[in-house]
Amino acid sequence: MSFDLVFFGGTGDLAWRKLMPALFQAFRHGKLPAGGRLLSVAREDYNDDSYRAWLRDRFHDVVDAKRPSDEEFARFAQLLHYRRMDLAQPEHYAELKQWLQARGADTVVLYLATSPRLFTSICEHLGQAGLNGPQVRVVLEKPLGHDLASAREINRVVRSVFTETQAFRIDHYLGKSAVQNLMALRFGNALFEPLWRRESIANIQITLAEDLGVGTRGDFYDRTGALRDMIQNHALQLLTMIAMEPPSRNVADAIRDEKLKVLHSLKPFTEESVTRDVVRGQYRGGMSQGRSVPGYLEEAKVPPDSRCETFVALRTEVQNWRWAGVPFYLRTGKRLAAREAQIVLNFRPTPHSIFPGANTPNKLVIKLQPEDGLELHLLAAKGTRQSESLSPVFLDLDFDKAFAEKRVGGYERLLLEAIAGRLNLFVRSDEQEQAWRWVEPILQTWERNDDATGGPRPYTAGSWGPAAASALVARDGCAWAEEH
Ligand code: BG6
Repeated sequence: MSFDLVFFGGTGDLAWRKLMPALFQAFRHGKLPAGGRLLSVAREDYNDDSYRAWLRDRFHDVVDAKRPSDEEFARFAQLLHYRRMDLAQPEHYAELKQWLQARGADTVVLYLATSPRLFTSICEHLGQAGLNGPQVRVVLEKPLGHDLASAREINRVVRSVFTETQAFRIDHYLGKSAVQNLMALRFGNALFEPLWRRESIANIQITLAEDLGVGTRGDFYDRTGALRDMIQNHALQLLTMIAMEPPSRNVADAIRDEKLKVLHSLKPFTEESVTRDVVRGQYRGGMSQGRSVPGYLEEAKVPPDSRCETFVALRTEVQNWRWAGVPFYLRTGKRLAAREAQIVLNFRPTPHSIFPGANTPNKLVIKLQPEDGLELHLLAAKGTRQSESLSPVFLDLDFDKAFAEKRVGGYERLLLEAIAGRLNLFVRSDEQEQAWRWVEPILQTWERNDDATGGPRPYTAGSWGPAAASALVARDGCAWAEEH
C-alpha cells in the first residue's frame, strides 16, 4: 500500500519534537509500511535537501534512544520531502494536489500540525482544491476548540469538507500502551469484569501529574489552563475507557458509541457543585527535582495577575447502573511532586474481617507513566506467626519488561493507525463536543465567581497541589494514592 503523509506546519515544534521522531522509530522498527513518502509543508524556504539537513540537526535535541545514527538518518531521509507553502494561498493547495496526483498514492494522510487557529481555513482550502477524495484522511491535533461553540464550529467546517470517517482527531493519551492494556485487561480477560462495578469498587482516581512547569508555552497555557489542557480531553478519555460497557466488537464506532454513553452519563455540574466538587490551583515558587523553580506568575509570557489554573482536582459520578454512587476523582497539575500518570481502582473492604489489625482494601493501579504496568495490591500472611495480622503485598506487572521486543510509542502508534485507516484510537466529534458540554459549567462558574472566590488556590511547586484537593476526597473518607 503506498501512502503520502503530509505535515502542515512541518517545521513546527510538534513536527520535529514528536511526529518525526515517532515516524523514525516506526521506520527503524520496520513498522512503517513500504511505499511511503513524508512531505512537510511550511512557509520556510527549504528544498528537499536543506529540509533534510535542518531535520537532521533537530534530531540532535531528541532523546538518545530516539536519535538516528548517520546511516539510519540517510536511509530515513530518502522518504522526506519538503514544499514551501503559504497556507492562505489557494494556488499553493492546487500545486500540492498536483504533486500528490503525480504519483497517486493509495492513501493520503493530511496532518494538521499547525496552530489550531488555522484548522478551519486549511480545511476549506483543501475542500476547494479537491483534496478531500475518498483516499484522503485528515488528522487534527488538539486543542480542538476553546469551548463548545468553537469546537462545534471546527467540526462543522471539517464535516463540510470530509466525512466523519476521514477525520482522525488525536488525543495522544489514547496512543499510550497503557490504554491498549486497559482495553486488554477489561475485554480480553474475564477476571475483573464481575468486579468492575459499584458493588466492588469504592472509588476511582485518575491522576495526570507533571513535575514540569509551563516552560516556554506561557502564552498558550495562560489562554488554556489545566481544565482545557488536560481534563476536557486526556482525563475524560481515560475515564470513558475505565467506565464504558464492553463494546460488541473491536471496531471504532462500537467503541466510540460506548465511550459517548459514559460522557452522557457524567453527572452534570451546577454552580453549586462546581464550588463544592472542583478545586483549582496555581503553583507558586518552590523546589522541584532538587532545584528552586519560579512560580507560575513569574514564568515567561504569563501576565503577573493571571488567574489561570495550573491544577484541577474534581469529583464526579457516572450516573448509570454500573457506577451509580461511585466517586470518580480526576486530578491534574503542573509542577507537582512527580511526573506520574495513573488510574487507581480502590476496592471495597471485605464485609467481615477475621484477621486482627487494619482491613486494607485491595487496589488495582494502572500505571501509564513513567512506567507502563499494573499493580494489584493484596493482603497476605507473612507466615511467621500463627495469629498474625496481614501484610500488604502487591503483584507488579511491568509491561516493558514482560514484552521484550521494542514497544511502540504513543505518537508512533497513532500515526501508524492513521496510515492504516483505523479510527479506534481517535476521538469522534460527538465525544469531543459532549466533553466540552460537560466542562463548560465549570468554566462559566469560574468566570462568574472569579472575584468572589479569589481565583485558583496557591500551591507550592513540588507538592501535590492545594490542601483543598485532599479535603475534597477526605470528605468521602478517601485519600489520594500517595497519602496512604
Ligand atoms: C499535552 C498538554 O496535551 O499533554 C501539555 O498540552 C502536557 O501541557 C502534555 O504537558 C502531557 O503529555 P504526556 O504524554 O507527557 O503526559
